[in-house]
Amino acid sequence: MNKEQLLNAFNFRHACKEFDVNRLIPEEDFEFILETARLSPSSFGFEPWHFLVVQDKNLREQLRSKAWGVTKKLDTASHIVIGLTMKSPLMRWDAEYIQYFMREIQKLPEEVVKGKGKFFETFQKSDFDLTDDRKLFDWAAKQNYIALGNMMTAAALIGIDSCPMEGFEQKETEAILRNSFGIDTDKFGVSYMVAFGYRVMEPKAKTRRPLNQMVTWK
Ligand SMILES: Cc1cc2nc3c(=O)[nH]c(=O)nc-3n(C[C@H](O)[C@H](O)[C@H](O)COP(=O)(O)O)c2cc1C
Repeated sequence: MNKEQLLNAFNFRHACKEFDVNRLIPEEDFEFILETARLSPSSFGFEPWHFLVVQDKNLREQLRSKAWGVTKKLDTASHIVIGLTMKSPLMRWDAEYIQYFMREIQKLPEEVVKGKGKFFETFQKSDFDLTDDRKLFDWAAKQNYIALGNMMTAAALIGIDSCPMEGFEQKETEAILRNSFGIDTDKFGVSYMVAFGYRVMEPKAKTRRPLNQMVTWK
């Protein structure tokens, strides 16, 4: 792949407002998109995310009522992903989950688990001051948006459209996730939704500031 092809994908990607209801993304292509989320970087490598793929029509219908910026996409997208972010019971420096993750996923030897755990504690308590639940959630959510960006770019590279979305009531949507989707909202919060599918119309030309207005060299 050359630079022009990559930039073409970035130009192809736009916030697609409506999708072709007659076209479903092949399973293999959607797995490819999810794989790019899985391979995304995260702070200390702790992967503070979970991706909820909502294909059930009734469940999509329930989300609609609290999602003003999402309705048309819920109705027409081939795939809808809700980006869930881990909350403090999973992400606090002293969470059992962090211990489990270092040992079982990262396969760190015991002395490294101790050292890394200490660094993580200092990072949260002072370096980044993540001392309340909201700060910790927002820190974890920032990482989830990296996965979001990667999924959208990957989709564009294989000719699939997408739309990132925050146009919903966060608290009410979490209540729906708790009551109808069986999500443990003490452990997970909703950060974004993202729709994938195929456009029905061509997008308007992109508006962006020139690079010299957003980059400073010293
Ligand atoms: C975090 C985030 C939230 C967004 N929320 C919505 C949304 O709820 N509904 C929508 O139609 N577009 C949404 N957008 C799309 C933006 O409006 C769009 O990306 C921006 O206007 C730039 O246009 P482009 O993506 O077509 O280049 C969102 C984008 C981002 C990054």
